Amino acid sequence: KSIRAFAPATVANVSCGFDILGFAIDELGDQVEVSLRETPGLEVIHIAGDNGKLPYESEKNTCTVAIQAMLQALNYQGGMEISLYKGLPLGSGMGSSAASAAAALVAANALLGYPFDKKSLVNFAVEAERIACGAAHADNVAPSLLGGFVLIRDYHPLDVIKLPVPKGLFCTLLHPHLELNTADSRSVLRKQISLKDATIQSGNIAGLISGLYQADFGLISRSLKDVIAEPTRALLIPGFYELREAIQSIGALGSGISGSGPTIFVLSPSRKIAGEVEKIGRKVYQKVGLEVDIYISEIN
Ligand code: HSE
Repeated sequence: KSIRAFAPATVANVSCGFDILGFAIDELGDQVEVSLRETPGLEVIHIAGDNGKLPYESEKNTCTVAIQAMLQALNYQGGMEISLYKGLPLGSGMGSSAASAAAALVAANALLGYPFDKKSLVNFAVEAERIACGAAHADNVAPSLLGGFVLIRDYHPLDVIKLPVPKGLFCTLLHPHLELNTADSRSVLRKQISLKDATIQSGNIAGLISGLYQADFGLISRSLKDVIAEPTRALLIPGFYELREAIQSIGALGSGISGSGPTIFVLSPSRKIAGEVEKIGRKVYQKVGLEVDIYISEIN
């Protein structure tokens, strides 16, 4: 018996929510097929769509690391075989490693008769992130598993909260062909922040979450600011400020780095404006001299 599951791409941080906020992009993602086998242990038997870049070793692959954490909690002694079908580019800031881990957990959990609910699976998925980038952050895996906007209120223990999504909120994702490794883009972060920046960031994250609850696009727009990660990370992302400036007056709500980049997300209050962002984005990246893939999706 085998089960195949899909898990979506995600935008982590959402500007002011460094490591604590993310949302899912339903149309894009990875698929993982898991089957039971008689011999114990986990084995990755097939990986497609990664250009040969992902490891098959079970202690390095995010699918097997996540499933292993789950099997340990169950004290399960059996074995499984795993096939990974990548739909997401690596090192893109679209939650690629997280989607693989999430899809693997959903498939393995189903195969075992659903011993865990989806929220509990987040605990296992963060172990995969620890392997993938050195930090067990949950702001990709949680929305990949739960969908929509998800807040990670705390990590010890994990306290994961699903947030409401206002109707008619669109995301344009602009993925330049450039790989940025999350571990590297975490290493450029400042380790200390000032009281002033902490206050600004808290105001914005509170504003963004209030904006989601009140379906207030103006408040969401005013809150899409990041004084913690963006100032240093934006330097690694060609076209970041050019795009922000170019879309300033078309009615988009705001832009930011998707996860640790180089993908940029732009939120818009309509599909029409999200489409304008795409057109402007193509011009900006042409000037910058980078190829770009652009996706538009309604957040659900
Ligand atoms: N919150 C993580 C980071 C997301 O910003 O490093 C990585 O995609």
